[in-house]
Amino acid sequence: DTAAYQHAFDAAVAADERIEPRDWMPDAYRATLVRQIAQHAHSEIIGMQPEANWITRAPSLRRKAILMAKVQDEAGHGLYLYSAAETLGTGRDELLDKLHSGRQKYSSIFNYPTLTWADVGAIGWLVDGAAITNQVPLCRCSYGPYARAMVRICKEESFHQRQGYELLLALSKGTPEQHAMAQDAVDRWWWPSLMMFGPPDDESQHSAQSMEWKIKRHSNDELRQRFVDICVPQAESLGLTLPDPDLRWNEERGHWDFGPIDWTEFWEVLKGNGPCNEQRITQRRRAHDEGTWVREAAAAYAAKHTGGTSG
Ligand code: ACO
Repeated sequence: DTAAYQHAFDAAVAADERIEPRDWMPDAYRATLVRQIAQHAHSEIIGMQPEANWITRAPSLRRKAILMAKVQDEAGHGLYLYSAAETLGTGRDELLDKLHSGRQKYSSIFNYPTLTWADVGAIGWLVDGAAITNQVPLCRCSYGPYARAMVRICKEESFHQRQGYELLLALSKGTPEQHAMAQDAVDRWWWPSLMMFGPPDDESQHSAQSMEWKIKRHSNDELRQRFVDICVPQAESLGLTLPDPDLRWNEERGHWDFGPIDWTEFWEVLKGNGPCNEQRITQRRRAHDEGTWVREAAAAYAAKHTGGTSG
């Protein structure tokens, strides 16, 4: 009966055991995972757009090869995550349909434009850095398939973060114009990167329940603080500044204090009013439509081979 199942589920979560696809789970746990994993998957594939913008204009063959590999990795992350969502009984078609019709979200960060080559560096350093900070604890998420997908994703994200850091370092130590371009990119990406961690804890409607279920291991504000603490010394090594006059080491807390985040901007971006929301979703729908023939061909091929006909 349900009470016994619920009891077994609670005990497994309490013992830090993994919940697997065939295990009984509360409907709300399943729904929360589908919501978060879908949003995460959508972010990976929408996140290909701002950087793909620079593939044809990368300043060297080496930079171009690195960037192409990185953008392809993001597509792969989308695939692992859609597969993880499928283990919960939700098909990829359904999730993509919800993305395309605006019924599911993707990360706020990908609604900002990539104006210069230095943005590729700032995205790697800050955006992928924030993603890793958020995702490393997800490797210990209570739901097995999501946790396992995260292990590989985090390894690849670490490479992305380093390529961004190295790119920014080269610009920062380059000509005065290159240094200024790197600084401008960091100035524009810093605050939106802090918003990636989600609303402040007292406005995060899902946090308490998700932490109880051990889907989330840390609150939004905890991870945001961890990220700021990591970035301050890295910015110094890069020879760049962070655009926050209130950044100050707090001896008592053992953390960096930082200034107020513009949450109005965050909620506006979530409502669809960011600088690139319209462009991102239009491009995504177009890419999906243009890929129809590939999906049809793959389905026809699969049908032919499972149907037992040869040739
Ligand atoms: N962008 C868009 N929406 C966001 C963001 C963000 N940065 N942060 C929070 N939200 C949304 C939540 O999805 C939720 O809306 P919903 O109820 O319609 O789903 C609402 O704001 C309230 O937020 P929370 O209650 O704090 O939501 P949650 O507990 O899911 O925490 C978080 C948000 C931290 C982003 C969590 O979902 C998470 O860890 N997700 C996995 C990581 C991820 O998605 N990363 C994508 C960007 S990184 C990359 O792809 C490279």
